Amino acid sequence: MSALSELYKEIALCQQCELAKHRTRVVPGEGAEDADIIFIGEAPGWHEDQQGRPFVGPAGLYLDELLASINLKREQVYIANVIKCRPQGNRDPLPSEILNCRKWLERQIELIQPRIIVTLGRYSMAMFFPGKSIGKIHGTAQKRDNVIYYAMYHPAAALHQQSLRRTIGEDMLKIPSLLAQAENVVEDKQQPQQLTMFEV
Ligand code: URA
Repeated sequence: MSALSELYKEIALCQQCELAKHRTRVVPGEGAEDADIIFIGEAPGWHEDQQGRPFVGPAGLYLDELLASINLKREQVYIANVIKCRPQGNRDPLPSEILNCRKWLERQIELIQPRIIVTLGRYSMAMFFPGKSIGKIHGTAQKRDNVIYYAMYHPAAALHQQSLRRTIGEDMLKIPSLLAQAENVVEDKQQPQQLTMFEV
């Protein structure tokens, strides 16, 4: 059994907060164990709670479309959430819940070792870009320790606010060139690359 599958078993046993009492299924995450890119959303919604899989409701269908726009299928990337159990009524996650769940996401990232971490929405952005505002930093990246962090709006935002659809689509289209730059940086450490789109 792979280390990630072992981790899923551990996550399924977690009873650290009230969310565990109300969940139908835990939603650890899914995708390629050696993915170059991890997309991190907020928390499971109703559909995800029913199926135990991330992003399988309306926001997930849109995420699939966005992935297709850069010739990727969800099986080629890794998809996870900040929170692994659905908050009742889809309320916002509490700071204590985010803190309790943080270790699972950290272990997923350690095991997958992605080149790019894409934050979807403000909760995952807050984890990797503390103190920043999504309106200001969406579509920009930061590189730390050979990992590129890239902030995007949450796909569900476009379902509520049609005007964001174009922005989200455009931000997604920047990912292939970020990935190409990440590959160059990793392969050719002697000659630092000029990385565009970078915030810092
Ligand atoms: N929204 C999220 O943030 N995650 C999901 O898995 C589904 C909807």
